[in-house]
Amino acid sequence: MVTDASIPAGSATDDPELADCPGAFPRIRVAVFPAAGLGTRMLPASKAIPKEMLTVVDRPVIQYGVEEAATSGIERVVLVTASGKESIEDHFDASRDLEALLEAKGNHAGLAAVRRVASLVTVAAVRQPRALGLGHAVLLAEPLVGREPFAVFLPDDIMDGGSDPVMAQLTRVHARHGCSVIAVERVPDQETPRYGILDVTPVRDGLHRVREMVEKPAPGTAPSNLAIMGRYVLTPSVFEALRSTKAGAGGEIQLTDGIRALLKTEPVLALEYVGRRYDCGSRIGFLRANVELALADPETSVATKEMLQDALRRAM
Ligand code: UTP
Repeated sequence: MVTDASIPAGSATDDPELADCPGAFPRIRVAVFPAAGLGTRMLPASKAIPKEMLTVVDRPVIQYGVEEAATSGIERVVLVTASGKESIEDHFDASRDLEALLEAKGNHAGLAAVRRVASLVTVAAVRQPRALGLGHAVLLAEPLVGREPFAVFLPDDIMDGGSDPVMAQLTRVHARHGCSVIAVERVPDQETPRYGILDVTPVRDGLHRVREMVEKPAPGTAPSNLAIMGRYVLTPSVFEALRSTKAGAGGEIQLTDGIRALLKTEPVLALEYVGRRYDCGSRIGFLRANVELALADPETSVATKEMLQDALRRAM
């Protein structure tokens, strides 16, 4: 849990660049998980199984994000799902028959694992009737979020922040300054055309004030190499901004366009988080997550190392 002690000392006014930030905000309690996309990059695996439910080591991709939310102090998760993706909700629900069976068989480890998933956070869900974009998905969560700042997790990004979850790093900045915060990472110049890229004014220690945002800039035109990754803290004004956002790239309502509109009326910050990101929406990122997280898990580490050494020997 995030405690007041974990909020850095000082106030927004220490930084002239942030003088117009509203200042301290108590705590982020609710997170939106948009999970209604088509997952075309992961076909055919994602044809009948949502990509968010594909297994990394021993749990579905989306569970990593929900665990990160819970350890960052978030109490309530709003899932944005779609037809055919009911298994996501089921995964975070109690499973009476399975629990009774595991109990009868004396499978205490299995029972604890099943119960733990259902007790991480309170879950509510809303359906996106058509995949009209990430911004549209976030807007659909408005009635369940209400008028408070909230977190957004793109569930196919697994973020390993070690002992300091990436969302906790963002919510600390929000607790201090009270404005929206976007997670960013520096990417090599040749990779900027794959991401939303920020034009910023640096504030201090990896914290920046966002000046402009460009979605997938043409090679050589990016204003920086700070790329937007899958974690955000947003003020509720983003809902108004999204409501007046027209469909952009790919005929979808983009979250980036909503945040660009927000920039006209309030400050938006970007934080270079400390941690490692796995893009589980792409094949190689998904594979890398499985390998690296299995290596990091004491239960699977030794066997994974042996397996990799053997596989490499045979591939040479
Ligand atoms: P992505 O662009 O990574 O997901 O969106 P996608 O569209 O499912 O993937 P591809 O490109 O076809 O493989 C990031 C997150 O936003 C959600 C997705 O489910 C994913 O978790 N999303 C995207 C929605 O909820 N609704 C949408 O209309 C689009």
